[in-house]
Parts: sequence; C-alpha cells; structure tokens
Amino acid sequence: MKWAPSSNRQTGDLNRVEAPVTLRGYLLCAFAAFGGILFGYDSGYISGVLGMNYFKMQFGHSGSTDPSAYHGYLYDTWQKSLITSILSCGTFFGALFAGSLADWIGRRPTIIAGCMVFSIGVILQVASATVGLLVPGRLIAGIGVGFVSAIIILYMSEVAPKAVRGAIVSGYQFSITIGLLLASCVNQGTHNRMDTGSYRIPMSIQWIWALVLATGLFLLPESPRYFVKKEQLDKAAHALSVLRGQPVDSQYIKDELAELVANYRYEIENMRATWLDCFRGGWKPSGNLRRVCLGMAMQMMQQWTGVNFIFYYGTTFFQQVGLKNSFVISIITTVVNVCSTPISFWTIEKLGRRSLLIYGAIGMLVCEFIIAIVGTADSGSQAANVCLIVFTCFYIFFFASTWGPAAWVVIGEIFPLPIRAKGVALSTASNWLWNFVIGEITPYMVDPDEGNLKSKVFFIWGATCTLCVFFAYFFVPETKGLSLEQVDRMLEETTPRTSANWVPHDTFADQETRADVDKMAGDMGTAHLEKAENQTDSNV
Ligand code: BGC
Repeated sequence: MKWAPSSNRQTGDLNRVEAPVTLRGYLLCAFAAFGGILFGYDSGYISGVLGMNYFKMQFGHSGSTDPSAYHGYLYDTWQKSLITSILSCGTFFGALFAGSLADWIGRRPTIIAGCMVFSIGVILQVASATVGLLVPGRLIAGIGVGFVSAIIILYMSEVAPKAVRGAIVSGYQFSITIGLLLASCVNQGTHNRMDTGSYRIPMSIQWIWALVLATGLFLLPESPRYFVKKEQLDKAAHALSVLRGQPVDSQYIKDELAELVANYRYEIENMRATWLDCFRGGWKPSGNLRRVCLGMAMQMMQQWTGVNFIFYYGTTFFQQVGLKNSFVISIITTVVNVCSTPISFWTIEKLGRRSLLIYGAIGMLVCEFIIAIVGTADSGSQAANVCLIVFTCFYIFFFASTWGPAAWVVIGEIFPLPIRAKGVALSTASNWLWNFVIGEITPYMVDPDEGNLKSKVFFIWGATCTLCVFFAYFFVPETKGLSLEQVDRMLEETTPRTSANWVPHDTFADQETRADVDKMAGDMGTAHLEKAENQTDSNV
C-alpha cells in the first residue's frame, strides 16, 4: 500500500504470513490510539488547575505568605504534591493489575473497564470541593488511566499489521501530545473564571475522552492473539478477518493464524504465563528476564531524558531564569511536541526503532549540554535566554520524533505472547514510577531555596541522555518490519547489535498446525455458507 509508511526490511519470501494493509484495517487499528488523549490530558490539566485563583481559594486556606497565594489563600505544599502525584500512584497499580486482567477477560474489555473506573474518578473530582475528595478522585482516575495506558499499547501492537505497527503505535504518542495541548488550551480558557467552572470544566472534559474511547472499542474486534492464547481459534480467525478485511477462510487469514498458533504453542512449551515467568529465562536476548528488564529500563530511560521537566515544571523554571512570557513559551513547547511527533510515523518504519533511539538521544544530549554550558557561562544574559528557548524547542523536537513514540513501540513488540500482557504492564508501570520519582525530586534540584541549579540542571539531563545512547546501542534490538512472532525468533538468533540485519528465514507453523487451522477455517467457511444459504432460502 503506497499510502502506508511500510517498513523496508527484507523479509525474504515470508511476506505471505500477513495480508496486505487495507485502509479500513489501518483505521481500525489507529482508532485505539485515541487512548493517548486520556493519558496526555490527565497528566497535563492538573498543573494549570493548581495555579487557578478560584481553585486556591476553594481548596486552600487563608494566611499564606507565599507570593503565589491568592489574597493569602493557598494549599500546603504537601497537598499540592499529593494532588499531583497521586495520579501516578494510581496508574502504577492500575497498569500492574491490568496486566493480569487483560489475560483473563481480554484486552478490549480491560480497556473498557479502565474507562469505567476512570469515569468514577472523574465524578469524584468534579464533585469535590475539598482536597479530601479530590485526592481519592485522582487516585481512582489514575487506576483507570493505568489500565488504559498499559493495555492500549498491548492491543495496538497485537492488532496492527506488522508493516505499519510502529507508525500505528506512534499514533498513541501523538494522541498523548494532543491531550497535553488540549489540557493547556482548556486551562487557558477557564483560568480567569471566579466560579467552580474554572476547575470543574477542565475536570469534566476528561470524561469525554473516556466515553469516546469506550464506545469506539465496543465496535472494534478483540485481539486475535488473545483468542489464540485462550485456544479459541474460531474467534481468533474471525477477529483477524475483520482486522485484515479478508474472508475468514482466505489463505491470508489461514497463514497468519497458523503462524500465531504455532508460535504460541512453541512458546508455551517452555513457560507458563505467571508473573514469576516474567523473571525467568536468564540474560540471553530472548530470555524473559532480559526482555522484562529491557521494557522497564526503556520506559525508565524515556523518563530520564528529562522531558517532563519541561512539561511539568517548564513554566516555573522559565520564570526562575528570568524569562517574562514563560506561559507562552510553555505553550510553544507543547505545540512543538505535537507537530514533531508525526515525523516518527514514517521514520520509525524506515530508519527503525533502534536508530531512532540512538540518534534521538544524541540530538537531545547535544541540545541539553548547549543550554547548560551557555546558561552557566553567561547566566541571565539575553543570549543565554534565547539559547534556552531555541534549544529547548530543538530538544522537544528530538524527543517527540524519537524517544516519545519509540519507547512505546518497543515495549509492545519485545515480549512473547504468554507473558506479553504482563511484560507491557510492568514496563508501563515503570514509566509511571519514574514519572513520579522525577516529578518529586526535580523541584529540589531547581527551586531557589533548594538546589537552585538554574540552567545547570541541564548538565544532569545531558548526562542521563548520554546513558540513553549507550542503553539504546547495547540493549535495544531492531524490530521494524517483523511480525511479533518473527521478533521472537530474531531475539533467539541475534544480539541487539546484529539484530537489524536479521532476515526471517522460517515460519513457526508446521504441517500439524496448518492442518488444525485449515480444518477450523473450513468448518467456519462451511458454517458461513450454510448460514448464507439459509438466509437466501428464508428470503425466497
Ligand atoms: C511520556 C510522558 C510525556 C509525554 C510527552 C510520553 O511518551 O511517557 O511522560 O509527558 O510523552 O509527550
């Protein structure tokens, strides 16, 4: 398909393992990316709400001498930190729990359940007029976001055609960035109101995203790989046929299904699918332990790029270094984030995940060191301020077009089916854990009465980005253009550094699996024909 950014990886004569991508199939898979809006909006809206005057009056108490207080009204620091970080706490546990639930009730119902839990949290938040109710509301909403953020990645990776899987999962990151932008726009629109609408409007809008996502998912098919795991091959064939837009008894569907089944049977011979199995298999690239460490470290390193320093604390940091229109600069960085992400739809398939991660981290560290060096050498000057703004934008550009999407793409691809839901859940939980940790420690590094590092803080982010380059070079395998089953084989036969040259040479499906799938597809085809004939008879 010319319009789809498909991978240029050599796949020998094994392309038949999957049907060609249809526009409908592409759109079906891409819809799930909508879940990213929930993630982005939810992490984005609270910082603006905390700064609203009416909110300070309603949720704070009088007598504060802090310059940011409104007529002496402000909440305590511990309350601010609790309101902000309780979401990450909920998402951490939500993601972990969802890892079990998705194997038990299915990927799609887990995401829908996540939207329901989230809605309860939203109701509590909107109803709240005190910190006492707001905090449980954010905690419960966080559990819902945890379900959604972990299982959407799993679902999208499992339903997307291999040639565009990276691009489709990048769509999720794109939605995160739109969510962040929407949150700042809504806050901007309501922050001057002196009634409960100032915070209740941004809070209730969260619910729209959950409603759209849950309604849409009702109409999408379950992941065929989940049905294979449950040994329900007829349902798996049906789901595949809807996703690929091919008849259920077509050779494409039979070939792809045979491959899924054979791979699953092969994997399950060596492991069960418990949480403990996630930590077995040792340090060889295909070992579960290695894969789980890779997924968790990938998300940890994504947070250590320092990106949320800009998104969570950008406004106050820019003020601290003396910039006047810090609010506008924050909006600009959010817009750069949105506009740069779509570049990855193409590059993630053409250049691959590994190259994107290596070069993206190099781009980020160069920007960070430039900001740090100029800001330290010429502190407070016009030149240093221009440099800070320009290179912050370049830095966000590099993040948004590389590590932002690629970290999510990779965790959807590296786990074998028996432990995939749990592996993705652990990796997502790691994202939220480090999101929380970095969010908590950053103010201590930069606040004037604490570390007061000013631009020097970018030496730290530059150093952590340097670690990201080594991490990507030594540990991340190239997964572009391969089916999830071929990724399994590749991990068995290569190391991360040799992975990009690996060409699939074999299928998992043997005669026995093909016969099973042929028989089942034949039965379904006959049942389908009989049903059609009966309908024609009754119409006659
Ligand atoms: C990260 C978030 C970050 C966002 C910015 C995501 O991939 O996980 O922590 O805020 O990108 O776009």
